[in-house]
Amino acid sequence: MSLLEVTDLTVGYVTAAGERVVLVDSVSLRLEPGEVLCLVGESGSGKSVTMLAVLGLLTDPLTVFSGSVRFRGKELIGADDETLRKLRGAELGMIFQDPMTSLNPVRRVGTQIGRALAVHQQSDRRTRERKVVELLDAVGIPQPAERARAYPHQWSGGMRQRAVIAMAMANDPAILIADEPTTALDVTVQAQLMAVLAEARERSNAAMVLITHDLGLVAQYADRVAIMYAGRVVEQGTVWQIFDSATHPYTLGLRRSLIGEQSATERAYAIPGAPPPPTKRPAGCGFAPRCEFANKASECETHVPALVTLADGRAIACPPAQVAS
Ligand SMILES: Nc1ncnc2c1ncn2[C@@H]1O[C@H](COP(=O)(O)OP(=O)(O)OP(=O)(O)O)[C@@H](O)[C@H]1O
Ligand code: SF4
Ligand SMILES: [Mg+2]
Repeated sequence: MSLLEVTDLTVGYVTAAGERVVLVDSVSLRLEPGEVLCLVGESGSGKSVTMLAVLGLLTDPLTVFSGSVRFRGKELIGADDETLRKLRGAELGMIFQDPMTSLNPVRRVGTQIGRALAVHQQSDRRTRERKVVELLDAVGIPQPAERARAYPHQWSGGMRQRAVIAMAMANDPAILIADEPTTALDVTVQAQLMAVLAEARERSNAAMVLITHDLGLVAQYADRVAIMYAGRVVEQGTVWQIFDSATHPYTLGLRRSLIGEQSATERAYAIPGAPPPPTKRPAGCGFAPRCEFANKASECETHVPALVTLADGRAIACPPAQVAS
């Protein structure tokens, strides 16, 4: 049994005209204890919606159409709000792109982290205050006891995100879910903050789902990688498999667009075209309109390719690429 098992998760909404719009389509993922899974894909591919569904945080009109999310074997889809609230923060720590979605602007930072502790742990106030200072110290906040009394607006963006990491780690979660945790920050503090996050995770040996556009971060931190395109997982494997021997045409394109894979005289490569919006997804393979290997004869444009697991554990949703592997 995996720590987290997402099976055929399909998420979307129903339009006023009664039509179903699918945003996340039959996504399956698994996460083992202590492992880092990176979820990668262009904007709009469904990374955030997938993880919001896992956390039970979808907001109207979004809903889970079908599929399963199991945490330690327990089904979370359809679980009551109280169960989900208890899990979030205790077992599932969350770090979103904008720290202000997690911090309350009118409460002192220390009080907020203390409350996160109080909700999930039985402890007296003094113990909690000591723990808050320890947590802030662990994420590199100088003079943490003093700083804990400040309000979020008195902290820089990078410091606020450190506070969010401290809050996410407060109850030693089994899984950290970090959705582009450094993208909103100044480039100069991004690497620093990622290092703080990675260190906090390693200390507690939490597993992590890291959503990122940055293949550099993937190479540095991932154990396994799931590549998403147009709401589906198109390839999944270990970080070595994805970087060394990926075969899905979309993964190949993504990798090629990584700076460094072209010579100095060549312009940076970008996959031609753009992903289809959820309301206009093609009938067959979502990538077909942009795929240089698309082949009518192989039914690329008429059949949605299934994600097939190969002998080496890699999963690929592209019949020609499966043959080539
Ligand atoms: N509340 C909503 N109502 C309707 N469509 C939505 C809603 N939230 C997200 N979507 C759509 O669902 C699709 C997937 O969105 P999602 O936010 O998961 O993408 P993403 O992969 O996280 O992208 P990014 O890298 O930009 O964060 C997008 O087309 C988005 O426009
Ligand atoms: S299934 Fe066809 S269109 Fe889709 S990625 Fe593979 S070759 Fe390209
Ligand atoms: Mg997102």
